Amino acid sequence: SRIKVGVLVGSLRKDSFCRKLSKALKEVAPQSLELENVEIGELALYNEDLDEPGNLPEAWTVFREKMKSCDAFLFVSPEYNRSVPGVLKNALDVGSRPPSKSVWGGKPGAVLTASPGSIGGFGANHHLRQTLSCLNVPTMQAPEAYLGNIATVFDENGNLTNERTRGFLQKFMESYVIWVDKNKLT
Ligand code: FNR
Repeated sequence: SRIKVGVLVGSLRKDSFCRKLSKALKEVAPQSLELENVEIGELALYNEDLDEPGNLPEAWTVFREKMKSCDAFLFVSPEYNRSVPGVLKNALDVGSRPPSKSVWGGKPGAVLTASPGSIGGFGANHHLRQTLSCLNVPTMQAPEAYLGNIATVFDENGNLTNERTRGFLQKFMESYVIWVDKNKLT
């Protein structure tokens, strides 16, 4: 059966370039992978007081169960002030508790960051890697994906029209499927 990949997009805006990127990743992904976007915008800000029976936000429970059903993860994120957008960090935090039931532990992942600027979200990419290391998500080292000038690669309907970028994403996903195969829980 296909490997289920949960895709987390670190932006909530409707016309997000990262969301468009997640759509393009689906188009180029090998057949053996089933990519599904998991929404994170409705997750209440993490608060330990809520993380108790009777107080648990429904959206947390739904998210945790959804992530547990995934075999692997892909993080597609912009950079906010040289780091990970709060909404994505919040999702990582929500999924990490309680530690004995963390949804992340041991499942392989990879990071792509993008920016309309030229640095391609380098700061966010590596801050995200720091947290994923703490969460025991074996994160693909190479190829790295810092997608600069991201506003120029889509048409007005949000389709990826830059063939160089498409070729890169295809190579990225070919490496990713090998990485997942090597690191997935059995
Ligand atoms: C940004 N942006 C940004 N870009 C960047 O390359 N480095 C940065 O540190 C920041 N910081 C930053 C902070 C905040 C609060 C916002 C709202 C934006 C610009 C950002 O890359 C741009 O808005 C992207 O288009 C956001 O990604 P989506 O929403 O298109 O996926």
